Amino acid sequence: MNQDDKKRQAAEAAISQIEPGISLGVGTGSTVNFFIDALAGHALNLTTVVSSSEASTEKLQNLGVEVSDLASAGDLDVYVDGADEATKHLHLIKGGGGALTREKILAGASRKFICIIDDSKLMGILGRFPLPVEVIPMAQSFVARQLIKAGGQPIWRTGFVTDNGNHILDVHNLSIPNPLEVENRLNQIPGVVTVGIFAQRHADVLLVGGDNGVREMR
Ligand code: A5P
Repeated sequence: MNQDDKKRQAAEAAISQIEPGISLGVGTGSTVNFFIDALAGHALNLTTVVSSSEASTEKLQNLGVEVSDLASAGDLDVYVDGADEATKHLHLIKGGGGALTREKILAGASRKFICIIDDSKLMGILGRFPLPVEVIPMAQSFVARQLIKAGGQPIWRTGFVTDNGNHILDVHNLSIPNPLEVENRLNQIPGVVTVGIFAQRHADVLLVGGDNGVREMR
C-alpha cells in the first residue's frame, strides 16, 4: 500500500468518528485534504466548520462547505489534523505546511483532537523531521541564534510567508526526547510565535494508516 492510500485510510477512519451536528475544526496538509474530500461526501449537517489555513478554507469552500471564523464559532467539539511526526504518547511535530500557529489555536480550542497520519510518521523520539518555528520577521536572526544555543541548526524557509505574515525557521538535528520541556523552553524566546511541538496540547486520538488497516492510539 502506498503512502497516499495509508493517509486516505486514516482520513476515512476519522470521518467515521465525526458525529452529525458537531462543530469541527479542519487542519492543513495532504492527509487532511483526503479528509476534506471524504467530508464533502457525507451529509453530517455540521453546526460550524473552522479552518486552520487559507489553503484548507479554499478547498472546503470549493466543495461547498461553509467556513466560519473561530471568533464566531467559539470552542469546537472536534479538531482533525495531520502531523509530520507523532509518538505513542500522542506528542506531535507539526508545521511542515507552515500553518502551525492557527493549527495550535484550533487544537487548543477543541474538546477533542483527532490526528491522522500514515505509519511512516510514527517515531520513538521526535526530531528527525526538522522542527518548524514561526517567528516575527524582525526577530528572525535573534531567534535563530537562540535556537543554535539550544542545540539545533535553524534554516530559514526561504521565500515562505505564513498566513499571519511571519517567517518559518526549520530546526534540524534537534533530538526531542522531552517534548513538553522543549516546547515550553523554546516558547520563551522573544520573537517566537509558535513552536511546532504539540505536547502541551497533544492529540487525544491518533489514527495511523498502515498496511494492515488503521491503528487507533489513545
Ligand atoms: C501543516 O502546517 C502541517 O502541520 C501538517 O499538518 C503536517 O505537515 C502534515 O502534513 P501532510 O499531511 O501533508 O504530511
